[in-house]
Amino acid sequence: MYQPVQLSEDIFYIGVNDRRTELFENMWPLPRGVAYNSYLINDDKVALLDTVEIGQVEKFLKKIHAVIGDKPVDYLVINHMEPDHAGSVNIIRQLYPDMQIVGNKKTLPMVEGFFGITENLVEVKEGDELDLGKHKLQFYLAPMVHWPETMVTYEQTQKILFSADAFGSFGTLDGGVFDDEMDFLWFHDEMRRYYSNIVGKYGSPVQKALEKLSALDIKMIAATHGPIIRSHIPEVLKMYDDWSSHKTQEGVVVAFASMYGNTEEMAEVTARAIAEQGIRDIRIYDVSKTHSSYIISDIFKYKALVLASPTYSNELHPNMEALVNKLKHMAVKDHYLGVLGSFTWAGTAAKRLKEFGEDLKWEIIGSPVEEKHALKKQKYDECRKLGEAIAIKLKDDREG
Ligand code: FEO
Repeated sequence: MYQPVQLSEDIFYIGVNDRRTELFENMWPLPRGVAYNSYLINDDKVALLDTVEIGQVEKFLKKIHAVIGDKPVDYLVINHMEPDHAGSVNIIRQLYPDMQIVGNKKTLPMVEGFFGITENLVEVKEGDELDLGKHKLQFYLAPMVHWPETMVTYEQTQKILFSADAFGSFGTLDGGVFDDEMDFLWFHDEMRRYYSNIVGKYGSPVQKALEKLSALDIKMIAATHGPIIRSHIPEVLKMYDDWSSHKTQEGVVVAFASMYGNTEEMAEVTARAIAEQGIRDIRIYDVSKTHSSYIISDIFKYKALVLASPTYSNELHPNMEALVNKLKHMAVKDHYLGVLGSFTWAGTAAKRLKEFGEDLKWEIIGSPVEEKHALKKQKYDECRKLGEAIAIKLKDDREG
């Protein structure tokens, strides 16, 4: 028995929480689960906005029934085809065979490709409207936020933006569904982790979408993950603007791989020198312990990064290799990079890490420090010098 949650008259949240899945996209950890949000407008015509991941379909159907009973669904608007939202499309279509599926010219071939559905499809273009009775929907394309077919739907009467993945977050909705019903601060980190892990590669399309949305009067943002936002809209728009334009805060992520502690020691010495210069936000991560999801999220937050790796079979330590590959794949921009390395008989790691920073056009600070065997006085001093140079660079930015 589900109690429907109302966004406003006739408009309902009918999303579900997933506390069982370990990894989102079979890759990103979900220690506090994830919500798949869907919405239902019970007007003269009934419109469903996105569905949920297939494993949650039973709960989802009960929620639909709790709102509309035996009334049919007239329209299913698909803002985004990734299966965490479109997973239940086929079942919904079987239950409501006359239902029109609404998408754009990139959505509809995916509907056919994933589900073999070729009938009762309505193609909409930028700015098109759909009249449900009291409520009118308008569609805006938002390609690559996060897939090419992604669009957002604006409900004109109540000024609600159904924003697909944009402004979404990891984490389940634990009783509170709206941002002012919970500790919304906690969601800031999970929102940035979601953005950086899932959408982070597409900063420029996000900027284009934000520019388009700036023309709309938005009273509520209803994303497909995370809280519905009605009390923190300017704050959330600013966060997205910053992340998508690669704006970062003063601070340093120090990510190291270390087999026996020698590289870790270099990371610690460097971090201490940074702190002594007055930089307060420093996060040291062992890439073999902390999932890259969290490290990447902090890299999106802070301007400077120190990468430290031993040479392993004439390459980077494989866990460091995995982190830098993900950062390359995401084309992360505008960072300062300090490089540390260590080796026992032939050094390659520092060279590789420097090349990685150069490939991404990051600013390499100082010279890479690479030690043979354990850390000794000369390289200790160089680690400290590197830390100081990074701190000075950050402080210069602070001052202007
Ligand atoms: Fe939440 Fe791109 O799917």
